[in-house]
Amino acid sequence: MKRRAQMEAYVKGARPRFEHSLAQMVELPSVSMDPTRAADMKKTATLAVQLLRDAGAEARIVETGGYPVVEGGWTTGKHHPTVLVYNHLDVQPAQEPEWRQAPFAFRKDHGLYHGRGATDDKGPALTALLAGRYVVEQGVPINVRFLWELEEEIGSPHFADALKPRAGISKPDSVVVSDTIWIAKGRPAVPYGLRGLLGARLSLRTGRADAHSGLTGGAARNPLTELCDLVNACVDAETGRVKIPGFYEDVVPPTKAEVENFLASGFTVGRFKKAFGFTSLRSADPAEVLHRIWASPTFEVHGLVGGYIGPGVKMVVPGYAELKVSMRLVPNQKPEKIFRLFKRFVAERNPNVTVEAEGMLHPFKGHFSGPYAEAAQRAVKEGFGKEPVFIREGGSIGAVTTMQQVWHVPILFMGLSLPEHGYHAPNEYFDWGQASGGMKALAAYFTELAAMKK
Ligand code: BES
Ligand code: MN
Ligand code: MN
Repeated sequence: MKRRAQMEAYVKGARPRFEHSLAQMVELPSVSMDPTRAADMKKTATLAVQLLRDAGAEARIVETGGYPVVEGGWTTGKHHPTVLVYNHLDVQPAQEPEWRQAPFAFRKDHGLYHGRGATDDKGPALTALLAGRYVVEQGVPINVRFLWELEEEIGSPHFADALKPRAGISKPDSVVVSDTIWIAKGRPAVPYGLRGLLGARLSLRTGRADAHSGLTGGAARNPLTELCDLVNACVDAETGRVKIPGFYEDVVPPTKAEVENFLASGFTVGRFKKAFGFTSLRSADPAEVLHRIWASPTFEVHGLVGGYIGPGVKMVVPGYAELKVSMRLVPNQKPEKIFRLFKRFVAERNPNVTVEAEGMLHPFKGHFSGPYAEAAQRAVKEGFGKEPVFIREGGSIGAVTTMQQVWHVPILFMGLSLPEHGYHAPNEYFDWGQASGGMKALAAYFTELAAMKK
C-alpha cells in the first residue's frame, strides 16, 4: 500500500479507540483548581497510564509536590532521536449556565466530541498518542515519549519537580507541545510564542463587618471604592494602557518579519469577534488587534468581591473587599520584577491593601525558522493539506518555559484546537477533522524528526 493510503487506513481504524478513550477521559472531571476534585485527579492519572499501556506504550505516574505527571511512550532504540510530546489532562471548571448538556458527560455528535476538556487538552493528547503508536508500528526510528501534566490550568506549580533527575525523565532531543489554537478552521497555525502571566489577589479590610450606609456612610472608608480607585490607577479602561511605572520597561516589540507573518496569517477581526461573541473591540484594525493579543502585555480585572450582589440594592458600606487581577506578559518582561513594581505602586497608593501573587509564568519565544519549524511546516501540510502560518499566542503554558530552562532543546507547537471549540467556555468540543488530520500531521512530524541528525 502507498504511504498515504496506509496512513488513511490507520486513522480510520483508530477512530473507535480514539472516541472511546476521549469519552473515558472527558467523563473524569479533572478540575485541578477545585480541591473537591482531588479523587478525580487521581483517577485521571490512573486512566492515562491505562490508555498509554492499552496503546502498547510503557507508562508510569511520576509524583511531584502536587498532582503527579504521567510519563510514558516508546523507546525504540538508544541511538534514535527522542521527541517528547507535552499535553495536559487537567481542565477548567465548567459551571457556566450556558452549558446545553452536563459538561462532564461525553457526547458524540456527527464527528463532534462535546464535553469539558475535549479540546483543552484531552483530545489533542489522545491524538498524539495514536500518532506515536502509528510511527512506532511502522518501524520509524524514533523514540516517542509523552508527558501529560495535571496542573497546567493552575500555572504548573510543581511541574519542575517532574524534571528533576530523580524523577527519571530523560532529556529529549526536542519537544512538541499540542495545546494551542489555529487562526480558523482550514487555517493551521504553528505558534512560536506564548505570553507570560502574573496573577494577583488584592484585599482590603476597613471594618469588622458591613455597616449601615446611612449611619456610617461619609465617615466610613469603602473598600470596594478604594479597590476600584486602584484599578483605575493601574490601567486605562478605554485603551488598556497599563499605568504602573516601569511596566513596559523590558517589552521587546515584535520584529518586522514577525509583524509581516502576523498580517499574512489570515486573521480577520470579523472572525475573531464572531468566534468569541464580541460586539466591539478596543480596535478595529487587524494589525493592532494582533499586536494587542500576541505581542503586548495586559492588565485584566477578573473579579471584584465584596458588598451586596443579591436582588435590589442593599445600603451597606462593606467591611471587606477583594480584587482578582492578572497581567499577561511578553518578552522580555519578568513576572518577579513586574510583581515588585506592582506591589510598590499599590503600597504607595493604598498602604492598607494586601497584595498576594497567584502564579507567575514567564513569557516564551521560540523560533519560526530552522529545521524544526520547516519540518513542522511540511508535516502540517501533509496532515491537513495546507501550510501553517507562524504566529504567537496570547495564552500561557507554564510548563513550556520550565522545559526550556531545564533541557535547552527546541520546543515546537503543533496545536489542533479551533477558536470555535471554546477553550474554557461553555459547550467546549473537539472534532474528528482536527483529530484525524492531527494524527497524520504529528505522525509526519515524528517521521521528519527521525530523519534529522541527532
Ligand atoms: N491551552 C491553553 C493555553 C493557550 C491559550 C494557548 C490560548 C493558545 C491560546 C492553556 O490550557 C491555558 O488555558 N493556560 C492558562 C494558564 C493559566 C491558567 C495559568 C492561560 O493561558 O490562562
Ligand atoms: Mn491547554
Ligand atoms: Mn486551558
